[in-house]
Amino acid sequence: MQNVSAQLCPRADEVDDPIRVDFSQGLKDGLRSVPKSIPSRFFYDARGSDLFEQITQLAEYYPTRTETEILSRHGAELVGDVQDTGALIEFGSGSSTKTEILLRFIPPTSTYIPIDVSATALNEAKSRLVKSFPHLHIEPRVADFSEPLKLPGSIRCKSKLGFFPGSTIGNFRPNAATELLRAFSSTLGPKSQLIIGVDLKKDPKTLNRAYNDALGITAKFNLNLLRRANEALGANFDLTAFEHRAAYDPETGGVDMYLVSQKMQSVQFDGFATHLGENEAIHTEHSHKYDIDDFVSVANAGGWHTHRIWKDENEMFAVFKFQN
Ligand code: TRP
Repeated sequence: MQNVSAQLCPRADEVDDPIRVDFSQGLKDGLRSVPKSIPSRFFYDARGSDLFEQITQLAEYYPTRTETEILSRHGAELVGDVQDTGALIEFGSGSSTKTEILLRFIPPTSTYIPIDVSATALNEAKSRLVKSFPHLHIEPRVADFSEPLKLPGSIRCKSKLGFFPGSTIGNFRPNAATELLRAFSSTLGPKSQLIIGVDLKKDPKTLNRAYNDALGITAKFNLNLLRRANEALGANFDLTAFEHRAAYDPETGGVDMYLVSQKMQSVQFDGFATHLGENEAIHTEHSHKYDIDDFVSVANAGGWHTHRIWKDENEMFAVFKFQN
């Protein structure tokens, strides 16, 4: 049995914790909707980020490796004409691992603005990057990249290159992706460029394998959402009674991820209560897959024009460069 008082009433010091409040509210809203869902931004607590890192190294999970290969092979062309006075702005920078590949091709005294919700991730990335790029001006911003953002005045007159790798754009449905790209355009301003990594449509077998690895790391990552709810909010999800489900759905054009309750259970936290039926699924993530032309349409609608497109030789993944 969980700590009952924690379920009914958070401690005074917890009431003000903005991360806890956002998680509690987001989880309640998701579990109230029909069908039930949990917003995917809650995946990335410390344990979730660690599990995702393990996913990126799995044999079945091709996107990270394939994108890294494209960036390494075409880095010079990709970065192109960023001048000494240029700035690289990354949306959702995390550990900035892929950025290092591009930074090698950027003039050493440029500015790099990593944007992320995690101050810890930004600090760790900066301490690492200053060692390899001692002349780079690194100006991190703690922010949610999906909200419009005012960039620092110091880069007002610089040419701006946005960077959004990892096919994170796939975690937005096409209309929402267009809105996000429009927001990037207004954040960066006119005459900017944007490099963006996009996972492509391919045979469903390969897609299904990528989200159902043999070691079960992806299942653990998905289930970590509920573990986090139990630990941070005092919820009482029976973690032994959920199954990870992920499948490419040609109807939606993406892989949809679910946590499926294997039994009837009642769940409570923070004065909220809900029931899960046997085999009831909670939707946790949509990972959209694109054809090149479809993504160009999404980007055009968001105010961006194609500059160039790079693919790996098996055409699994594409890196687009746009200008607005
Ligand atoms: N952005 C990643 C993707 O869509 C996230 C991800 C990978 C993921 N594996 C997952 C999300 C499993 C939920 C469950 O490819």
